[in-house]
Amino acid sequence: MNKPASLIGNKNKFLIFGCGYSGSYFAKTIKKFGCTVLTSSRSISRDLNSFVFNSENSVVPDAKIFDRVTHILSCIPPDKNGNDPVLSCFKSQLKSSSLEWVGYLSTTGVYGNTKGDWVSEIDEPNPFQKRSCNRLNCEKEWIESGLPVQIFRLPGIYGPGRSTFEAIKNKKIRVISKKNQVFSRIHVADITNAIIYLLQNKNTLKFYQIINIADDEPCSQLEVIQYCYDLLGLTMPKPILFENAKEELSSIAQSFWMENRRVSNKLLCKKLGYKLIYKNYKIGLKDCYLNC
Ligand SMILES: NC(=O)c1ccc[n+]([C@@H]2O[C@H](COP(=O)([O-])OP(=O)(O)OC[C@H]3O[C@@H](n4cnc5c(N)ncnc54)[C@H](OP(=O)(O)O)[C@@H]3O)[C@@H](O)[C@H]2O)c1
Repeated sequence: MNKPASLIGNKNKFLIFGCGYSGSYFAKTIKKFGCTVLTSSRSISRDLNSFVFNSENSVVPDAKIFDRVTHILSCIPPDKNGNDPVLSCFKSQLKSSSLEWVGYLSTTGVYGNTKGDWVSEIDEPNPFQKRSCNRLNCEKEWIESGLPVQIFRLPGIYGPGRSTFEAIKNKKIRVISKKNQVFSRIHVADITNAIIYLLQNKNTLKFYQIINIADDEPCSQLEVIQYCYDLLGLTMPKPILFENAKEELSSIAQSFWMENRRVSNKLLCKKLGYKLIYKNYKIGLKDCYLNC
């Protein structure tokens, strides 16, 4: 297990923008450290620590949410115009708060297609999709803001309630094969734990502004699906060749298959010493299977 050098103090106040799948996992975990945590969503919630924020219709919270805030985590993707919702609405407030740390969840889509080669943080981003160009622009805006920001580039996120098991159960599974195609992935618990590890050891670790959080074993989608069917004791349907399935896929689904890369986690796991909880899809999915 990762040993904390110092615990995250209970005087810290976190604002989590975009409390969706990853944001709520992070919020739930950080609360256990005794921190104050306020979270945003686009609709009203019964949770007293939740506030409404929707950049699309300019619904913004009262400025008092920023009182004594020490840490921000943004999990909101670029809006339909490619702008960062948090920076568009709150840049000046963020800059006038005395923030210790800002985290931004980005995607490894900014690396583009490397035809299966490994990519690391020192590689020049080469986005291929429009949404990845927008993402890279948002990353740049965060960096240029001068805030103490750390950017986490994430591959496909999975975990409890969001995995191949749900796709099988909801009959949304598409068993597609494409030669030499691999995907990288990360379990939601490792996103949270890696970020907390970096925060806990902030004073002793060298600060890196951009960090990939990915597991150790990029692999084909087919291997993952086969593994889930095996755990369920079911027979996997016969795979369809990508070329034959392509027409039926949504444009967003097609776009994922147009990029092929292996995301390196060496900076996080070797240089910075983070130990993954789920170092590959088998361990992560087994846990989803046992706990669903
Ligand atoms: N899912 C993946 O496999 C994956 C892979 C790599 C990177 N990422 C990126 O990592 C981040 C976290 O991913 P996730 O899957 O955990 O996200 P998620 O569950 O889709 O949550 C996104 C959050 O952003 C909020 N949001 C979206 N548009 C907004 C807007 N215009 N104004 C205000 N709030 C807005 C949503 O509000 P509501 O709660 O009201 O819906 C939600 O809380 C995202 O930036 C995502 O693009 C995701």
